[in-house]
Amino acid sequence: MKKNLENNIDMIIKNIGKLAGIVPEGVLRKEGAAQGETGVLENAWLSIEDGRIAAFGPMSSCPSERSEESLDARGGMLMPGFCDSHTHVVYAGSRDGEFLDKIRGLSYEQIAARGGGILNSSDLLNRSSEDSLYEQSMARVSEVMAKGTTSLEIKSGYGLNAEGELKMLRVIRRIRESVPAIVKSTFLGAHAIGRGYTHEEYVRTVIGMLPEAAKLADFVDVFCDEGFFTTDDTARILEAAAPYGLRPKIHANELALSGGVQVGVAHGALSVDHLERTTEAEIEALKGSETMPTMLPGSSFFLGIPFAEARKFIDAGLGIALASDYNPGSSPSGDMRFVMALGCIRMRLTPTEALNAVTLNGAYAMGLSSECGSITRGKRADLILTEPGWTLTKLPYLYQTAFIRSVYFA
Ligand code: NIG
Ligand code: FE
Repeated sequence: MKKNLENNIDMIIKNIGKLAGIVPEGVLRKEGAAQGETGVLENAWLSIEDGRIAAFGPMSSCPSERSEESLDARGGMLMPGFCDSHTHVVYAGSRDGEFLDKIRGLSYEQIAARGGGILNSSDLLNRSSEDSLYEQSMARVSEVMAKGTTSLEIKSGYGLNAEGELKMLRVIRRIRESVPAIVKSTFLGAHAIGRGYTHEEYVRTVIGMLPEAAKLADFVDVFCDEGFFTTDDTARILEAAAPYGLRPKIHANELALSGGVQVGVAHGALSVDHLERTTEAEIEALKGSETMPTMLPGSSFFLGIPFAEARKFIDAGLGIALASDYNPGSSPSGDMRFVMALGCIRMRLTPTEALNAVTLNGAYAMGLSSECGSITRGKRADLILTEPGWTLTKLPYLYQTAFIRSVYFA
């Protein structure tokens, strides 16, 4: 464990320059204009009891004689830890060879068509032992925790056969048991057609994996996009997953207007993710739903594809989450501060909209927003304490400057 990752004991943090991300109890997501608002208290204190946020207020009301350990924030900003609701951090080996193909001008689809892409990761994964996969993946989870991620979702989807998919889900469970961050697990058997199967055989195989996968996973995902899985495939898989209590989180509209948003919403998806290609129809389908539109600017940046039109969603009254999509093919970074920066610089989000997107709304997209994602009494004290002088605006603006003093986990 890195030195700046701290486990909470009862303590009080004093002289907080800005306590940012304060949200009233019971608010589980921020939508529309509310996405641009958050509580910020200047010159504040916050106390932690049993790993939970117990109380906070201005320094003028700071309790004095108390027995807990006290920490001087020296004017640093205290904010919720990042909630990264979409990652593929469990993978084997590297795809840096494809990075060279990409530099030479091949698209994501062209690389996949040449046997690269997800199938390349699948071959590497199926050759890798479970212990080695765990070690390789843990290195990435440790890396993102040090960068402020305190909860994350991890998907399967590089096994592409029953043995490989279950191996991935077991590794995710082992990670969940070994880190202080909250880990949610998603079965993404339908990430690509596994080698040796016809399309129809593989869809049936994924459905056949559900009873075992459901013992290990919290959610189910399908890559519903051109060249991968159709809306019919997606509906079949989601319907078969529902009796196991696996709520959908769908990869939709990355490569084409796939219909993935509509099929996800119709099946009560917790989130629909990517959304680089959307029209009014997708926005209309999302209105009034329980589904969190989730955008992954790291993959737009890396693949050179359009950024999702976050402004249109928020201006239509919807909320959005931002996540890293950390994976070897389309987003080889899990740095959530950089995701915030891309949200502001390339998607024209305000820093506060971006903060809500990477904290409360990300937590919502993992079914965790009653537990974490904001400064709220009773929530887990999963927190980032910055060095002195940081503000919400500086986070995405000085997007490469080290800002973290400590990351706290409940
Ligand atoms: O979210 N789009 C599908 N899946 C991943 C990429 C996975 C890979 O290329 O390995 C994504 O971008
Ligand atoms: Fe993804």
